[in-house]
Order: sequence, then C-alpha cells, then structure tokens
Amino acid sequence: MQTVPTFPQPITPGDPQRRTWLLASSAMGVAATAAVAMPFVSSFAPSERAKAQGASVSMDPAVVAPGQVKTVEWRGQPVWVMRRTPDMLTTLEDMQGLADPYSEKPQQPAYATNAHRSIKPELLVTVGICTHLGCSPVTLPEGTANASVPPNWKGGFFCPCHGSTFDFAGRVFRNKPAPTNLVVPPHQYLADGTLLIGEDGPGAA
Ligand code: FES
Repeated sequence: MQTVPTFPQPITPGDPQRRTWLLASSAMGVAATAAVAMPFVSSFAPSERAKAQGASVSMDPAVVAPGQVKTVEWRGQPVWVMRRTPDMLTTLEDMQGLADPYSEKPQQPAYATNAHRSIKPELLVTVGICTHLGCSPVTLPEGTANASVPPNWKGGFFCPCHGSTFDFAGRVFRNKPAPTNLVVPPHQYLADGTLLIGEDGPGAA
C-alpha cells in the first residue's frame, strides 16, 4: 500500500484510458441537467510507478459527507466512494425494476452481494465506469428535473451516453444498454478506519 498527500490530478498525455474517462466525465457533467458531478479529488494515491503495478490506494472515508461522492484513482480507473444517507439506504431495500438485484453476476466480491453492495451499509465503493461502453455516469438525485429518468426516480447514477440507470448501490435497471451492475473493487477497512481499495483482507469481513 502506498499513500501520498492530496494533490490535483493532471491529465497525463500518455495515458489514453485515463484521459478518456476524464473527458467523458466533463462532457456529461454539462450534458446532464441537474446532474451532480463526482469531485475528482483522489485524496490519497500511490506513486506513478506503484499505480502501474496495480498498487492499492487508501483514503480516509471520513472526508465524504452524507450524500456525497469522492473519486479516487485506482489502476487508472475512477473509484467512487459514496456516503449514503439513511433515506438512500431505505430506497435500496425495495428497489423495483433491477436487472440483477441480488448481485448474482460476478461484478463484486462476496462481501458486496448484499442489497447495499458494500461492507459498511453507508459506504459504497464502486468503479465509476458504465458497464456498457465505459462512459462515466453522473449522480441524479431523487426529484431531479432531468427528463431522462422516470417520474418515480429514487435517485441514483445516470449514464448520459446511452441512458443506462443505476441505483445508489450501482445496480443497473432492466432494459438498459448496460448489461451488468457497476463493478465493486476488492476493498477493506483497516483498524484505524482507513479504506484500502485494491485488496481483500480481514477488514473486508
Ligand atoms: S456507455 Fe453508459 S449507457 Fe452506454
């Protein structure tokens, strides 16, 4: 595990994968009315060499306020860490119209096959890349005026590229282009509460 202080994340010219999702995220933040962008704040990240080797990254989840999402880069991908409110968690319990409500497809570790798809109910950790063609979804809260979601929308993630929708557990709705739920990466919580993304371990239980 490598940990470094907060730093702004430049777009590296030699990293086309990262550039793609960064640009996609920017464009869709403009396109999706009332969408809430995920702050790209990678509070803690490994060195460039360690990233190339697939090193795990760590962050303090306490920096994520209720209802907010922070983004951390892991293996060149944006990983969202979202602190869900009690109301958000309530909507997950009886969400209708999901394609894989019980997380039966292998998109997550075993400890994330529950309704909230996470170790700690309030903290979602998921790769912020649409499972259709790799665009970056945005957050659309309940009550949004965005016409791309139904009137009974309970809040979740919306991919403006082709209209896939996901709930706040990253579960995709039926009859959408995205074939599977968002990916939950291996992760765990260390004894001091630090979130470690990229490794399973005792703190994953
Ligand atoms: S890339 Fe997200 S719906 Fe197509």
